[in-house]
Amino acid sequence: MYETPFHSQSLGQHSFLVTGGAGFIGSHLVEYLLKHGAGKVRVLDNFLTGSKTNVELFSSHPAYEFFHGDIRSVDVCRQACSGMDFVLHQAALASVQRSMNDPVTTHVINADGFLNMLVAAKDAGVKRLVYASSSSVYGDHPDLPKQEHKTGNPLSPYAVSKKVNELYAHVFALGYGIQIIGLRYFNIFGPRQDPNGPYAAVIPAFIRELKAGHSPVIYGDGSQTRDFTFVENAVQANIKALFTEHAEAINRVYNIACGESCSINQLFTTIAQLLHSELKPQYLPSRNGDILHSMADVSLASSLLKYNPTVNLRKGIEILLANH
Ligand SMILES: NC(=O)c1ccc[n+]([C@@H]2O[C@H](COP(=O)([O-])OP(=O)(O)OC[C@H]3O[C@@H](n4cnc5c(N)ncnc54)[C@H](O)[C@@H]3O)[C@@H](O)[C@H]2O)c1
Repeated sequence: MYETPFHSQSLGQHSFLVTGGAGFIGSHLVEYLLKHGAGKVRVLDNFLTGSKTNVELFSSHPAYEFFHGDIRSVDVCRQACSGMDFVLHQAALASVQRSMNDPVTTHVINADGFLNMLVAAKDAGVKRLVYASSSSVYGDHPDLPKQEHKTGNPLSPYAVSKKVNELYAHVFALGYGIQIIGLRYFNIFGPRQDPNGPYAAVIPAFIRELKAGHSPVIYGDGSQTRDFTFVENAVQANIKALFTEHAEAINRVYNIACGESCSINQLFTTIAQLLHSELKPQYLPSRNGDILHSMADVSLASSLLKYNPTVNLRKGIEILLANH
């Protein structure tokens, strides 16, 4: 992965802080930056949901640096931002269901931790901060496909925390002149996504269960839809957001997805076929907090960031299974 660059300038003169870099998406950003000759890549992570295995492969790289710390401390955020040109902020508790069970920790990490990072990035004078928002901010808005300016009421503490991120980002851009771009990820999947535990995302959970010979659980009747997005597309969006020189593109939020809709039942069938499994899913009642339908209009990111998702769902699952 990442043989073809998404940027045109040299990365050798620049330093990058990736918060949550020991997690799924963060570790892909680190991989990309190191592969393309970044001057320095510093990871800030506390391994709450990330893992040492995700970053082990970088440990001998001369441009790589690991900072063990927690974004709940503004001092830690300041130390991590010191000397950095760019920040890619991924650290968060990333699960809707986890936020339903533990709203306080979700808020303190996702909202307070985000504010700490903004303050630290502003004071350190970083050139630009790109952060992970989420499709969950669309909440109960009924329109499909989702367009950036039409959001509804959040349906989970996680969605509230991401909405708060967007509000603070707007205020910091306006009030302090810091360059910030938010990316509303839609169900990102790919290698290194944690398949274990009660909060595992649906694609790694299906693969884990089918490979173990168990019937995967589908919550609800499986007709709910998602816009599953291979992680390479999310990396492309981050890199393009970091380096866009288009003034109109800065201080905005963008949908980052494939722009295609797939039901959970269709997803199950695709994965089961690719794994040559005859198993059927087991259905349990739907869960509070989950959105029913989700599909993105990615035209804003396409026109302003030149974002062009190149790996579709099926191809992404094939790459993922080949990496297993
Ligand atoms: N994966 C998706 O489908 C998806 C969708 C929408 C948004 N997002 C957002 O993208 C970002 C990355 O998600 P991911 O799927 O890679 O999740 P992940 O859990 O794999 O990565 C999150 C990382 O943040 C670290 N972290 C958590 N709390 C921390 C703290 N207090 N201090 C320092 N580090 C901390 C974790 O240890 C982990 O390495 C998150 O902000 C998430 O909300 C993800």
